Amino acid sequence: MKLAVTYGDALTHETPLLALGVWEDESLPRTVASLLEDGDWNGKFKQTTLLYPRGELPARRVLLVGLGKRGQIAFDRLCEAAAVAAQHARDLHVAEFAFDLPTPEGMALASASQAITEGVLLGLYRFQHYQTGLSASDQHEIEQLTIISSLRDETIEAGVALGEVIARGAALARDLANTPANDLPPAKLAEAAEAVGQRTGVAVTVLGPDELAAQGFGGILGVGQGSAQTPRFIIMEHGENQPGVPTICLVGKGITFDSGGISIKSADGMDLMKMDMGGAAAGIGTMQVVGELKLPLHIVGLISSAENMVSSTAFRPGDILKTLSGKTIEVLNTDAEGRIVLADALFYAQRYQPDGMIDLATLTGSIVVALGPHATGIMSNNDALAARIVQAGEATGERAWRMPLWDAYMDMVKSDIADIKNIAGHAGGAITAAAFLANFVGDYPWVHMDIAGTAWTDAKPRAYTPKGATGIGVRLLVQALRAWAEPRQ
Ligand code: BES
Ligand code: MN
Ligand code: ZN
Repeated sequence: MKLAVTYGDALTHETPLLALGVWEDESLPRTVASLLEDGDWNGKFKQTTLLYPRGELPARRVLLVGLGKRGQIAFDRLCEAAAVAAQHARDLHVAEFAFDLPTPEGMALASASQAITEGVLLGLYRFQHYQTGLSASDQHEIEQLTIISSLRDETIEAGVALGEVIARGAALARDLANTPANDLPPAKLAEAAEAVGQRTGVAVTVLGPDELAAQGFGGILGVGQGSAQTPRFIIMEHGENQPGVPTICLVGKGITFDSGGISIKSADGMDLMKMDMGGAAAGIGTMQVVGELKLPLHIVGLISSAENMVSSTAFRPGDILKTLSGKTIEVLNTDAEGRIVLADALFYAQRYQPDGMIDLATLTGSIVVALGPHATGIMSNNDALAARIVQAGEATGERAWRMPLWDAYMDMVKSDIADIKNIAGHAGGAITAAAFLANFVGDYPWVHMDIAGTAWTDAKPRAYTPKGATGIGVRLLVQALRAWAEPRQ
C-alpha cells in the first residue's frame, strides 16, 4: 500500500473515504455534526458510523471512528482505532482512504502517525496464500492511505516510514508462522532468513546438519533426528562493524512442527504446532526491521530450527544428549524439545559477550494457563533488562509480565544421572522451563520470553491482530532496541 502525508484541513480533502478519529463525548466539527442525528454518536472507543455528505464535504464518505476518552489514549489504542477504520474501508472496497491525524496530548505527532500506519497495515493483514477460489472482492486491497495533518511537521513522514517498516517486519513474522509445516521445514525457514539478508544487508550464515554435528550442537540434532527434514542453525548479524555499540543477541525457537515426538501430543489441536517457530519468526522479522532502520547497535539473531517428529530415528525418553556447552540433558519427555534446541543457541550466544540476550519461544502450555492470551510471560536474571522488555511491552501493547526465577526453581531441573533434566513436573512449568534455560546463559544479562499464549489468536482480541499468527515480539523488540540505541542517535 502506498502511504502519503498531506497537510491541511481534512474536511476540505477530496477522497472516497475520510476517516475521522473522534474523542468520546467531545463535539464534532459543525459540518459533520449536521450529517448526524443527535444522540446517535458518542465516540466510544472503536465505535464507527459511516456518513454520506452528498456534496456537503468534498469526501464521498466520512467514517467516524471513536477514539475513546482523550485521557485514555495510548499508542496501541490508536493502532486499534486505525485498524478498525481500515477494515471498514476495505469492506467498502474503496481504492484509497484518508485518515485525519489525531493529535493526542502527550503523544508526539511522529508516534501518532506511526500508530495509525501500524494499525492500518497490521489490521489489513491477511493470509490468503492457500485459498484458490477467492473472488476479486474477497481479495480487494486498498491501494493508498493518506494521512492528513493540520499541523505541518516533517516528523510525521518519519513516523509513517517507521510504522511501515515495523508493520512489514511483523507481517513477515505472521507469514512465516502461518505457513504450514509442509511448506516451511527448517531449510525453508533458513531461506527466509537469507532472503532478509539479501534485502537488508544483514549478514546471514546457515549451519546444516553436517556442520552442526562437527561443531557439537547435540541439542538441536537430538530434537531433529526423527525427521527427514534436517535441522538448521541460523545466524543473522547486523552492525558488527560499528565500534563501541552494545551487542544484543536475539534467540528464537524454530520448531517448524512439534508433534511432541515419542512423547506424542494428543491429536486435538496438534495442527497449531505449525506455529512452534513463532519465536524464530519474530527474530527474523525483527532482524529485517533493524537492518532496514540501520540501528546503531550490534544485533545478532540466532535461530535453532528443527522438526520434532515420531520415527524409528527419533530421540527417546531416557536418552541423554550432550549439548554444545558440554552439559548433558536427560530427556524425560520429548515434547519438552524447545528448551533443548534453545540450550545450544543460548550457549552459542555467549561467544558474542552480549550486553543482553533475549530469547523468544512458544515454550510452554503452562504460560498459557498462567497468563492467557493477553501477556507474554518473561523470566530474567537481570532486573534492568527485564524492565526494558516490560516497558517496550507497555509502549507497544505487546504486554509482558515478569515471573520469578529464584534459585529454588533451579534445583527442580537437576537430574540424578545427567547435568539437568528437561522436565520438572506440572507445577510452575513455565518457570522451570526458564530455570532449565538459565543453565546455558552464563552470567550474561538474559530475558526469556514465553510467547506460547500470545503468538497465535483464534479469537480477535485486537483489531490489528486478525486470526492466526500475531507476529508477537517484533513490535516489542524493535521498541526495546530503539530505546537502547536512543542515547546514541
Ligand atoms: N510447543 C509446545 C508449547 C506450546 C503449547 C506452544 C501451546 C504453543 C501453544 C512445547 O514444546 C511443549 O510441548 N511444551 C510442553 C512441555 C511439557 C512436556 C513439560 C507443555 O507445555 O505441555
Ligand atoms: Mn513440545
Ligand atoms: Zn514446542
